[in-house]
Amino acid sequence: MTSTQTIRATAPTASAGGNPVHFYDLHPTPADMRAEVLAGLALPQKRIAPKFFYDAAGSRLFDAICNLPEYYPTRTEIDILRTHGAAMAARLGREALLIELGSGSSLKIQVLLEALRPAVYMPVDISRAHLLDSAGRLAGDFPGLAVHAVCADYSVPFVLPVEDHEHPRVAFFPGSSVGNFEPADAERFLRRVGALLGPGGRLLIGVDLRKDLALLEAAYNDAAGVTAAFNLNLLTRFNRELGADFDLAGFRHQAFYNQTEGRIEMHLLSSRPQQVQIGDARFAFREGESIHTECSYKYSIPGFHALARRAGFLPEAVWTDPVPLFSVHCLVYRPDAPSGRDAG
Ligand code: AVJ
Repeated sequence: MTSTQTIRATAPTASAGGNPVHFYDLHPTPADMRAEVLAGLALPQKRIAPKFFYDAAGSRLFDAICNLPEYYPTRTEIDILRTHGAAMAARLGREALLIELGSGSSLKIQVLLEALRPAVYMPVDISRAHLLDSAGRLAGDFPGLAVHAVCADYSVPFVLPVEDHEHPRVAFFPGSSVGNFEPADAERFLRRVGALLGPGGRLLIGVDLRKDLALLEAAYNDAAGVTAAFNLNLLTRFNRELGADFDLAGFRHQAFYNQTEGRIEMHLLSSRPQQVQIGDARFAFREGESIHTECSYKYSIPGFHALARRAGFLPEAVWTDPVPLFSVHCLVYRPDAPSGRDAG
């Protein structure tokens, strides 16, 4: 993942209720799912990247997860944005250029747009359809807002397609999506966000907190079995899109908190010895052998501050719910500050 995306075309302007959406297509390279799956299943610990969860069915299941009673992150983060929106706006400044990395939950961005009232809203998402759909709706809901939608893979380096130096830059990365990265990758990712923002730019980032084991594990082992269906949907997807022959009855969902690493791990566990065919490749599973499908890192507030500093950011403020279950950090990019690069 080292290639730099360039703007190869600037495509049309969609319109919603009179407020146009400016659209920039950076033509993100689609993942080679077949190659990645074959390579991951050949490893001693079989592994699949969590980005493959999100086909149409997986995205619907993820939306259902966000509404589960056990899955506290989404509703807690929205509560934090509602409760502390004014304080966040005071930190982030007026007339900002607000860059949303991944245009995910429309409710979160609506709450933030209402509190912050930025001059420009720039959602960045790899899914063209999802991006245009949600950007169009937001342009309709916020008539005075300039909406510049960017179709790009935010996990690889890119430059903003708009020359804009008059508005303070703010990036928004909610949902504890940063938890999907290994800590070293999270640091690299934050550094790239910093480069996008430039010195003095700010990042508003949602980070799930370390907490009681039972609460954490329940969030990934819901009683209704939605998370299990979300995990197992990977196999359905590979059967359909790669012509694999996974027997869904032969695998079960497993999620647990790895205390040493500070992360939830999700696996698909083979309930018996079996073989799976994908094209010309054949993969053997022992009874109890797993495919590791996701890591979701949890951070303490000082732990996340340390990560932010290693990436060149200074922590400015953090807001949580009362328990606290979840945190929203305001960080400022100061790559040359003494407590940036060098401090632990
Ligand atoms: C989207 C990565 C933040 O880690 O909690 C939810 C994904 N996986 N339930 C998370 C997820 C299972 C989610 N993130």
